[in-house]
Amino acid sequence: MPAHFFCRLETGSTLAAVRIYVCLNPNSDYNGSMSEPKIAQKSPIVQKVEPGTYYWCACGHSKSQPFCDGAHKGTGFGPLKTEITEAKTVAWCACKHSKTAPFCDGSHSRL
Ligand code: FES
Repeated sequence: MPAHFFCRLETGSTLAAVRIYVCLNPNSDYNGSMSEPKIAQKSPIVQKVEPGTYYWCACGHSKSQPFCDGAHKGTGFGPLKTEITEAKTVAWCACKHSKTAPFCDGSHSRL
């Protein structure tokens, strides 16, 4: 169930009400203390992958980068389920700041 928050934005003489939706993953271990993900490394992890389901680590604490090993417990993060449909080489994000997660978008170069 998403949590709804309301806020008011004032721009010049215009007042607007904005509804903000925050969706919490009911399967996450979110404990209300959202923090930044840990930077596992500042370069992508490039791998050849086969078709299948992968669980990319979003918290950065996994010892099995780039995949989840359960170390996210209590961090407010959870793994991102990713379906790979064909064999190919992918560049997994390891800095955990990509806007196109789980794949690298070059964000590590700005950290
Ligand atoms: S260990 Fe990082 S998301 Fe699971």
